[in-house]
Amino acid sequence: MRTLSIIGPGRVGRSLGKLFHQLEVFQITSVMSRSLESAVSSSAFIGAGEPVISIEQLSAADVFMLAVPDDEIEHQVSRLRQYALVETDCIVFHCSGSKSSSILAPLRECGAHVASVHPVRSFADPALVVSDFHGTMCGIEGDQLALQTLSAAFGAIGARVFELSPEHKLRYHAASVFASNYLVTLIDVAQQCYVAAGLDLDLAARLAQPLASKTLENCFRLGTTAALTGPIKRGDFETVQRQENDLLSLDRSIAELYKSFVPLTTEIAKRSGAE
Ligand SMILES: NC(=O)c1ccc[n+]([C@@H]2O[C@H](COP(=O)([O-])OP(=O)(O)OC[C@H]3O[C@@H](n4cnc5c(N)ncnc54)[C@H](OP(=O)(O)O)[C@@H]3O)[C@@H](O)[C@H]2O)c1
Repeated sequence: MRTLSIIGPGRVGRSLGKLFHQLEVFQITSVMSRSLESAVSSSAFIGAGEPVISIEQLSAADVFMLAVPDDEIEHQVSRLRQYALVETDCIVFHCSGSKSSSILAPLRECGAHVASVHPVRSFADPALVVSDFHGTMCGIEGDQLALQTLSAAFGAIGARVFELSPEHKLRYHAASVFASNYLVTLIDVAQQCYVAAGLDLDLAARLAQPLASKTLENCFRLGTTAALTGPIKRGDFETVQRQENDLLSLDRSIAELYKSFVPLTTEIAKRSGAE
């Protein structure tokens, strides 16, 4: 079995580490965090791997997974080079959705094959991710030899891999930000507005939940054009203007968010009229 060292066993690192260990895809050698407490708890979660807190303590491995925050990847690459840990034919990959594998290019000079593998899902709850990872889409790009090994490894833990163009990763990741992160912001704002209208938070959540869930279901069942309802779809622009003014008295950022949705939502409404 090939060996794997994990640098950054946070939400993503520990979830993937546990899956690779459980399904005997990789033998986990080291698990590197910033603090020993975190490294120990990560290795306990994974069920394998020696907890360490610096690159020079990492054991040799066939594969290195960098699951640190995006802005930290470059620094870890230079540390891996500095301590000559990456040998010929090692594979090094990161899990960022917005950065391409080219950020790992300096390690090619050590003979490594580099890639990125971006699982398109939220890792907010690692235990849940481990239990329902099967079918998770993973965008991959990088060196051919790395892609062969990593496609097989991710396939073995249930992922469905697809190839990405490295030059468009930033935009590709912006799509995921809209589909996941900003959706959270929207639900939060909706709940704030219900509360500002005099409802309690529990009722606000009970109103937002079925509305949001059914709308999402419709987006993917009927398509976004047919899923759109509401004042803009009906052409009630006086209501839209009054709502915008009312929100200004509540919170300028919320009012601006509301306003910024109007042109793009109007485009969707026009599309449905043209059908
Ligand atoms: N979260 C998601 O839903 C998601 C989905 C797909 C891809 N990704 C990508 O996966 C990668 C990891 O994200 P994450 O959400 O798992 O991050 P995270 O939960 O914040 O974990 C980051 C890990 O990196 C370690 N770390 C942070 N700063 C460090 C430093 N300066 N030096 C060494 N280690 C450091 C942390 O150490 P400690 O344990 O000591 O804090 C932690 O183990 C990112 O590239 C992200 O874009 C995330």
